[in-house]
Amino acid sequence: MSDVAIRMLELSKSFGAVNAVAQLSLEVPAGIVFGFLGPNGAGKTTTIRLLLGLLEPTQGQAEVLGYDPRRQAQEIRARTGALLERDGLYGQMSAEHNLEYQGRIYRLGAAERQARIQQLLTHLGLWDRRRERVETWSKGMRQKLALARAMLHRPQLVFLDEPTAGLDVMAAAAVREDLAALSAREGATVFLTTHNMAEAERLCSRVAVIRGGRLLAVGHPDELRRRAGGLRVEVLGRGLDEGLARLLRQRPEVAAAHAANGRLLVDLREGAESAPLINALVGAGAQVEEVRRGQASLEDVFVTLMEEEKR
Ligand SMILES: Nc1ncnc2c1ncn2[C@@H]1O[C@H](COP(=O)(O)OP(=O)(O)OP(=O)(O)O)[C@@H](O)[C@H]1O
Ligand SMILES: [Mg+2]
Repeated sequence: MSDVAIRMLELSKSFGAVNAVAQLSLEVPAGIVFGFLGPNGAGKTTTIRLLLGLLEPTQGQAEVLGYDPRRQAQEIRARTGALLERDGLYGQMSAEHNLEYQGRIYRLGAAERQARIQQLLTHLGLWDRRRERVETWSKGMRQKLALARAMLHRPQLVFLDEPTAGLDVMAAAAVREDLAALSAREGATVFLTTHNMAEAERLCSRVAVIRGGRLLAVGHPDELRRRAGGLRVEVLGRGLDEGLARLLRQRPEVAAAHAANGRLLVDLREGAESAPLINALVGAGAQVEEVRRGQASLEDVFVTLMEEEKR
């Protein structure tokens, strides 16, 4: 098997005047959890639909497991699983029947189908409730079932579009754990979109950040954090408001600055010192009580990328 699961070459999709995906060139190595990040409307779901052959690109190409989504969508869908924005479960059917049905679509034999359903539902803690109709289930239970359905036929590649969106803290953590375990155990490539940066940081060995359909950054989360300059300064005190954040943003050594809960969060560019910054704040009338320094998180990197884009 190729060591690249997905290739995109200047992949583009427009809806009228909206460039939902714009000349996206990207490779996803096989066997990893790949995070596909971006704000609302960035083009994440559209990209997944292009890769599954559910949409025709306006321009450019893609290759999924060596197949062309334009001509070989059947081959791709036979080898991939997907959890899309709408879970697509049948509410009137029991959990077990939802999976049965899916298993038949994928032409799994009866014995294999039953063994696999038992394995997945047991692992997800849903086996005892397999006979219940899914419409009576909570969102988190449904989401887990949708995950099981996406993994049912042991796909080489799984697309998960915001699998933990709308879940409570514990359910999201459980789904994350399941997802990591399933991918590690089955060696599948996972193409994951999420708005939760801590989740991406935990699960993904590579992430891409897009906005307006365009690629802004790609790499290991640590790599992106280092590239962001790495130094984040948190200033605590009095009078630290958005006006001061704006003042800081005008300084060349500042990559990003914003006020939150009476604090200032400042990302410095590589090699920049924090002392002149503090002087500037004091000069502008702020009362600085404490300065904390730390490494940028993936969320900081994300915010910085979005702010740079705006300028
Ligand atoms: N079928 C469609 N017709 C017209 N415009 C569309 C269609 N599908 C998507 N778009 C537009 O394409 C852009 C990208 O949408 P997409 O759903 O891919 O974003 P996303 O990154 O998945 O966002 P979110 O995080 O909110 O799910 C948006 O501007 C959206 O309005
Ligand atoms: Mg989406």
